[in-house]
Amino acid sequence: MATRVIPYEDIEKQNYYMQSVRDMNMGKAEQPIACIKTFGCQMNEHDSEKIAGMVERMGYRIVPDEIEGKYNGRICDLIVFNTCCIRENAEEKVFGHIGALKGAKRAKPDMITVVCGCMTEQPHIIDEINKKYKNVDVLFGTHNLHRLPEFVHNSIFNNCRVCELSHTEGEVAEGVPVKRDSTFKAWVTIMYGCNNFCTYCIVPYVRGRERSRKMSDILKEIETLAANGVREITLLGQNVNSYGKDLTENDGCRSFADLLTAICERIEGTGLKRIRFMTSHPKDLSDELIEVMAKYPAVCKQLHLPVQAGSTAILNKMNRRYTKESYLALVERIRAKMPEIVLSTDIIVGFPEETADDFKETLDLVTKVQYDMAYTFIYSPRVGTPAAKNPNQVPEQEVKEHFGRLVELQNSVDRKKNEAMVGKTVEVLCEGLSRTNINRFTGRTEGNKIVNFTADVKNCQEATGKFVKVYIDSAQTWSLDGHAVEWEK
Ligand code: 5AD
Ligand code: SF4
Repeated sequence: MATRVIPYEDIEKQNYYMQSVRDMNMGKAEQPIACIKTFGCQMNEHDSEKIAGMVERMGYRIVPDEIEGKYNGRICDLIVFNTCCIRENAEEKVFGHIGALKGAKRAKPDMITVVCGCMTEQPHIIDEINKKYKNVDVLFGTHNLHRLPEFVHNSIFNNCRVCELSHTEGEVAEGVPVKRDSTFKAWVTIMYGCNNFCTYCIVPYVRGRERSRKMSDILKEIETLAANGVREITLLGQNVNSYGKDLTENDGCRSFADLLTAICERIEGTGLKRIRFMTSHPKDLSDELIEVMAKYPAVCKQLHLPVQAGSTAILNKMNRRYTKESYLALVERIRAKMPEIVLSTDIIVGFPEETADDFKETLDLVTKVQYDMAYTFIYSPRVGTPAAKNPNQVPEQEVKEHFGRLVELQNSVDRKKNEAMVGKTVEVLCEGLSRTNINRFTGRTEGNKIVNFTADVKNCQEATGKFVKVYIDSAQTWSLDGHAVEWEK
């Protein structure tokens, strides 16, 4: 099915709803406040920036998220939960937060609570919210994000609950306002959805089939970001390597390698110096892409390449469509072209039927690859996925034991890799003062490693968003410590 770009007029219709809510809010004695709570991945973080853009245009002042719906003792007028359902604990957290708002809703009945995102694409979750959480006013899924103003408008003006679950797949909305969290780093979504149906994963069910944004729309967005002083962008998609497969010839771009090339050429000579992307599915990472990554200095030599498991038998059962050997060969090809590449991965422990021998294959793969970073997860059965129906779930005690061993192994690799950086000078994009120590700055290397550093700089504002060379004095497991030696002019 070809992807349909939602025409601008539809977004304009949302402008009418935004304005209408704004007019109402502006008539109030005190500007209403809104809080947006985000759960889950980078895609959700960026969706929340769009939510913030729309909420601000509806006349709300956005305040930091606090518990029980209050900010400085004042109950929020609007609360949006942008939810995640990748694992059970993500859902439990959201329910806990929604439940905690019941008192606030009683004290302020006109408070609006919105629940949207991945969780609310699932019928059993909607049933549960309908039954147990009467304090929720607006419910909708991932496909209707741009219609938030319409739903909030209808809930306020019709004084009713809005539950909009019908969705049209195969669409991409352009022109949604965005309020970005950072002035120098930005997310850019290049595609939505996933076609892979890994047997453990809920994402294809809640985010739908792959839809690519048109290259021209992506380039326009990136040009604007560069013109506004952004230094680093991260291209987002559930599987960026299949970008363009759903585009027609007219769009002029058929692959992610094509898109990346076009972006690199477009930003040459601007202040936008770093491009990252995530997530890459190993089965779709082409040699052409490796060439493009190696060729352009703006492409960070960093790659998130989820392996999920080390045993080929388990990879098969996960429907990953690569083997342990082909994954290792891919890593070798990548390192041959980019010896300095910083590699990270995702690993699931305790997939149904995973034996002690299968798990040993994971340990072996982790030892062989020597990742700079691994995100490790305990398998969580998701309603509606094939793996959840498998009667041979691994006993909890065994999973925990395996998980502990994997974390221990990876921690030792993390530390070793970071220790190897001591005595080197690296380029860091300064993100401002460290949250845990206001006498130090913090930032990230090209490889996305966190560096905390001292610097003889009076004005923090001026340093933020600047590149700085930092000498690494010491290493922690997950970060590096150093001192600034030279700031970008
Ligand atoms: N259980 C545990 N981890 C999961 N992931 C996806 N689905 C599940 C699940 N059901 C992990 C995968 C994926 C990451 C984003 O979350 O490792 O790469
Ligand atoms: Fe989920 Fe697999 Fe798609 Fe990643 S590639 S979002 S793990 S189905």
